[in-house]
Amino acid sequence: MQRHVVGDRADFPPGSSTLVDVNGRSVGVFNVDGALYALRNVCPHHGAPLCLGTVTGRMALTTAPHRYEYQAEPKVLRCPWHGYEFDLRDGRSMLKPESLRVRSYRIEIERGEVVVYA
Ligand code: FES
Repeated sequence: MQRHVVGDRADFPPGSSTLVDVNGRSVGVFNVDGALYALRNVCPHHGAPLCLGTVTGRMALTTAPHRYEYQAEPKVLRCPWHGYEFDLRDGRSMLKPESLRVRSYRIEIERGEVVVYA
């Protein structure tokens, strides 16, 4: 695993989503309330630029019919093409967590620099 400096901490303020280049690969860096996440910018469904999607909570089914409940956590990234949702923490699909996953990367702040390990 290699260390890639992708910018300074100030380049990724809370609420931001930023595309960076990591070893020739497009990676989305997300700052959600101060927590950083890094996901590959390719949807595993049909190859959309996934990181151009929306970071949000999600509607979850409840046990009662026709009732839904908004859940703010975990934060998901919703694909701009067909709406598949992926957990920002590990890239797993909310629909098929065991079989569909986007690559996620370890991301750290080190001496004021944002570092992606890939
Ligand atoms: S390409 Fe992302 S959900 Fe289809």
